[in-house]
Formats: sequence, structure tokens, C-alpha cells
Amino acid sequence: MPRGPAPFGERARARVCDGIRSRREHPERGRTPRPPSEIGENIRVSDNLPRPTWVQVVAGLFGAAALVLAAWCVVFIVRGVLSTPELQGFLDRYPGDAPQPASTPEGFPAWLSWTHFLNAFFLVLIVRTGIRVRTEKRAGGLWTSTRVKKRRMSLALWGHIAVDCFWILNGVVFVVLLFATGHWARIVPTSWEVFPNALSALLQYVSLDWPTQNSWAYYNALQQLSYFAIVFLAAPLAAITGFRLSTFYPPKWERAFSWDLAKRIHFPTMLFFVAFVIVHVGLVLTTGVLRNLNHMYAGRDDVSWIGFAVFAGSIVLMVFGWRAAMRDDWIARPARIFGNVKVLPKR
Ligand code: HEM
Repeated sequence: MPRGPAPFGERARARVCDGIRSRREHPERGRTPRPPSEIGENIRVSDNLPRPTWVQVVAGLFGAAALVLAAWCVVFIVRGVLSTPELQGFLDRYPGDAPQPASTPEGFPAWLSWTHFLNAFFLVLIVRTGIRVRTEKRAGGLWTSTRVKKRRMSLALWGHIAVDCFWILNGVVFVVLLFATGHWARIVPTSWEVFPNALSALLQYVSLDWPTQNSWAYYNALQQLSYFAIVFLAAPLAAITGFRLSTFYPPKWERAFSWDLAKRIHFPTMLFFVAFVIVHVGLVLTTGVLRNLNHMYAGRDDVSWIGFAVFAGSIVLMVFGWRAAMRDDWIARPARIFGNVKVLPKR
């Protein structure tokens, strides 16, 4: 009988779904049996968790109330501390602004608005396809490379990697323009004074007496540090660890970077992105929403609804992208250009 390609059993599917190459390719990887959660055989949380009892619900509510109370206590303690002459002197000396060279350009150019929007859009797709790769019990479709036959993966993973490529390309364009236009000085710290200023801004945020904003001209030190961290630390870390986990990583570099280490870093990096976005968007919405959105989405420094309207349109596109990332038949279309695709029937 002619030997055809091995049929995809459940385990094989799950392994492909996670982007793990066969043991023949990676003999060292088979030694420790990996828990089901890592090979895509996750059981949905909702399938297993017992319904909470009334006592648990009441205890949860008390816990939440206690947290709110504790947060208020922190606010009042920090307010008390900030009213002392020493801390007043500290705030006068370090008001919280990010120090930046006098030549730094003001404002938000169109290229920044576009790359910022595309970054957020691709990130939504990356997170959605990433969640699918981690939790899917059974791949909804399979992609096999026409060039390298052994290169096979679930359609969710193919979509994840494809969007990663666009996200990285957009990131490269952003960084090149950042340095070409001098805009870099707004998000790259250029003086050690950024640290006491960031502490000052943090104390002001916690006291709910928020630092004065003039982000058209410069960010505050905490913004500068967090933007620097997300652009120059978290984004490269996500890209490098993702590349290491992918089937495109050259086998000859196998020992240079441990697969397990990459796996341990990649997912927490995504959580960091999600945490950043929650705080970032929370602050955008609560510190002069119309002006902030006008900066980034309309390139103007006034309080009209134009930026808000563009932002609302971008949210519609993101919701559409989130839903599209769950459709294997849609992912299959571009995937067919690069390989053979088999969309599996839904069970
Ligand atoms: C839909 C969600 C988002 C909204 C509404 C939003 C909004 C904004 C706004 C209004 C600013 C300017 C801040 C100001 O004027 O004070 C800004 C800057 C920035 N945002 Fe976002 N953002 C979003 C998502 C993201 C995401 C996902 C990232 C990265 C993971 C990100 C990274 C940045 C960075 C790095 C800057 C500084 C850009 C520069 O000046 O070079 N944002 N964002």
C-alpha cells in the first residue's frame, strides 16, 4: 500500500495547533511529558468550575469592598504625605514632566496616528488568535507549507503568525519614522531626572490629584517610561520569543535560546501588553478624553469630537477583527496562497 501522509489524530492536531515540531525534529523536547494545558488539550474553565455558593458570593463582595476601602486609605495616606513641606518641595523640584531636548518636535504627525491605530488593530488580532492557539481543544483547520512539507500548523496559529508579521512591519516603520523625525525624544528618556519625575507623577496619580497634562508638547515621566518600555522592551521580547517558538526558527540555533524559556516569557509578555492597554486607555479616557483622542486620532490640540469619532470607527474595525480572528474559513483564504489548507468540519 502506498504510504500517504499520516492522518491527523487528536494529539497530532493538538501538537500542530501549538506549533510544536515533531519529536524527530526535536528529540530533546520529548523528555518531560508536557501537561495537557500546554498541548492545546485545555478543558474550558467554565466546563469544570463549580457554581459559587451564596457564602462565597457574599465573601467575594466583602473582599471587593475591602479592596476599595484599602485603595481609598492609600489615596488619603498619599495625600497626607504629599501635604508635608518635604514632599511639597519634592513636587516643586520634580513636577512629573519628562525632561526632553528643546529641539523635540511638538504634536502628533499623521504617520504616528496611522502606525498607532494599526498597532492597536493588529494587537487585537494577535491576542485573539493567541488565545485560540492556547485554548483550542481541536484545530478548526490545518495549514501545510507547500515548500517545507513538515511545516504544518493549525489555521489559528497560521493567522497568529501572519498578523505578527504585519505587526512587526508596522513597528519597524514606526521606529524608523520615530528616529527620522526627532519624535523619539518624546518617548526615550534622555536624563536620569526621569526617575524622580516618574515617582512624582505616580504619587500625584495615586493621590487622585493628577499631574497637569500638556502631552501635545511633552509626556509626563511615567508616560515616557511606560511608552519606552512597551516599544523598546516588550515589543521586541514578544517578537523574539514568538520567533523562537515558531516552526520558522532555524534548527541549527536550537541551543542558542531554550524553547521552554521562550514559552515561559511569551505568554506573560502578552499579559503585560494587555495590562498596559487597560491602564493606558483608562488614563486616556479619564484625563481629558476629547483632547487626548484629538491628539492621537485627529492630529489636533483642541476639544472637539473629531478624534472621538475616528476612535469610535477604529473600535468598530477592532470588533470586526476580533470576530474575523475566530473564523477559520476567513483565515483559510490568505493561508491558501502560502500552502495547502484543510478546513476541518465543526464537531
Ligand atoms: C484603542 C486603544 C488605544 C487608545 C484609545 C490609545 C490612545 C492613545 C493616546 C490618546 C495617546 C496620546 C497620549 C496623550 O496625548 O497623552 C497614545 C499614545 C501612545 N500609545 Fe496608545 N492608545 C491605544 C492603544 C495602544 C496600544 C495597544 C499601544 C501599544 C501596545 C499603545 C501605545 C502607545 C504609545 C507607545 C504612545 C506614545 C506614542 C508617541 O508619542 O510616540 N497604545 N495612545
